[in-house]
Amino acid sequence: MSIILFENEDHKCIKFGDLTHDGEVQSNQFLIVHKKRGLLLDCGGYRIYKNVLGAMSRYLPAGALEHIFLSHQDPDIGSGLNLWLPICKADIMICALWVRFIPAFCVRGLAEERITAIPDKGMRFDLAGSPLVAVPAHFLHSCGNFQLYDPVAKILFTGDLGASLEPHTENIATEEDFQQHVPVMAGFHNRFMPSTHACKCWATMVRQLDVEMIVPQHGARITGKNLVEKFYAWVEQEKTAVDNFADDLYQLPSGALS
Ligand SMILES: [Fe+2]
Ligand SMILES: [Fe+2]
Repeated sequence: MSIILFENEDHKCIKFGDLTHDGEVQSNQFLIVHKKRGLLLDCGGYRIYKNVLGAMSRYLPAGALEHIFLSHQDPDIGSGLNLWLPICKADIMICALWVRFIPAFCVRGLAEERITAIPDKGMRFDLAGSPLVAVPAHFLHSCGNFQLYDPVAKILFTGDLGASLEPHTENIATEEDFQQHVPVMAGFHNRFMPSTHACKCWATMVRQLDVEMIVPQHGARITGKNLVEKFYAWVEQEKTAVDNFADDLYQLPSGALS
């Protein structure tokens, strides 16, 4: 399933949403195309490489990729890198904290000289002249985490923030949808997002952006300024893991040690 999230004459944002296999966590991969050059956002794991490549080829040849942007270091984000790097010349953009972990995804020499380390404060860059912003989202959930803002499409790609598994619809576009969707996001958020403080800081920061759509790396997107603001308000107050963890998580498993 490819969904065009935004399109004008020069610019397209595409979501690939059903490329994982049964029993694996569903994930979304994204392609941004500007003037026939591309950015692949969270290229995905080893097992979906062929599917992503096939889906992408309708829009852009792999050789036209300029950037592979990894929001963080998880396997569903970038463990397929080893297959992507030989077929394109794209650089790998990832938080500076994770640069030295990238070789663990690749055969020797493949990633060298191709990594753009994103500093903690984020950065502005471009795709064929079209501006993009690596937006800091540390601790949401990874300790070195970036979201991607596309000011042309007015889309904020939020990585694992706002993730949902098995949402009732692919596009949350009404108040009723949103109410129904909140409990579907909450389970992941309550365990994977460590800090309410980080969530509040994030919401304050992203309110400065002009956002029409929130697009996470798992599950449904949220469309329209009104619902985007509702999402921010939910993120600010929803329970997170470390602030609400139960003391009984820190007990040794019962049973004999020998
Ligand atoms: Fe993750
Ligand atoms: Fe993820």
